[in-house]
Amino acid sequence: MLEVTGLRVAYGGIQAVRGITFHVNQGEMVALIGANGAGKTSTLKALARLLNAAGGSVRYCGKEISRLEPHQLISEGIALVPEGRGVFPRMSIVENLLMGAYSRHDKDGIAADSAHVFSLFPRLKERSQQLAGTLSGGEQQMLAIGRALMSRPKLLLLDEPSMGLAPLMVQKIFEVIRTVADEGMTVLLVEQNAKLALEVSQRGYVMESGEITLTDEAAKLLANPKVREAYLGE
Ligand SMILES: Nc1ncnc2c1ncn2[C@@H]1O[C@H](COP(=O)(O)OP(=O)(O)OP(=O)(O)O)[C@@H](O)[C@H]1O
Ligand SMILES: [Mg+2]
Repeated sequence: MLEVTGLRVAYGGIQAVRGITFHVNQGEMVALIGANGAGKTSTLKALARLLNAAGGSVRYCGKEISRLEPHQLISEGIALVPEGRGVFPRMSIVENLLMGAYSRHDKDGIAADSAHVFSLFPRLKERSQQLAGTLSGGEQQMLAIGRALMSRPKLLLLDEPSMGLAPLMVQKIFEVIRTVADEGMTVLLVEQNAKLALEVSQRGYVMESGEITLTDEAAKLLANPKVREAYLGE
């Protein structure tokens, strides 16, 4: 579904992503793990066209998408849940969800999808009129995921959904991510929490200093001594 070849991202003279190649098959959940500053967010931003890649190709469902505008990607079925969530703080939960559906005109579908989001995250339903800025970090993460789902994506890009959250909240959010994947969504999951990410994914890529240094089935990466030492704190 997603085929990335030789992707490069640079900030001025700094090469943040140095020609990486990876793919995500339809229906798969794939983890992209790596330490601080490895280039994970830069990769996702380039995929979502929030920044211009310095080189490489990105094919999605057989089509080159590396020159499309961000809103065109949403129409193509790609949604990003950004690092730091990016909810609209002065808008309510319901209004934030509707922003995720702004490119759609099918009222019934939108209503069905917000009902689905509320069934995934009952907590959001209870607080539906509350301003997003007053939500806890975990609730904002739920809302960010819910808002992305409102564009009815085929491919979901998640940037560090566990960041800054208490273990119980992380567990809840990952249960929902797993549910969404089980319903057929294709997911590219960026995480510093390697153990968590590999436990829910089928395959993984390890990124170090802008390069992919290792790839395998997630279970094999979890058992890999190098990964255990560098990313699982053993
Ligand atoms: N806007 C920017 N301007 C200049 N350099 C940047 C910018 N954004 C990121 N970088 C640099 O690019 C490199 C990769 O950063 P990136 O945010 O992609 O890493 P990351 O893997 O997402 O890290 P983290 O786990 O901390 O989120 C880092 O060296 C970072 O300092
Ligand atoms: Mg990041």
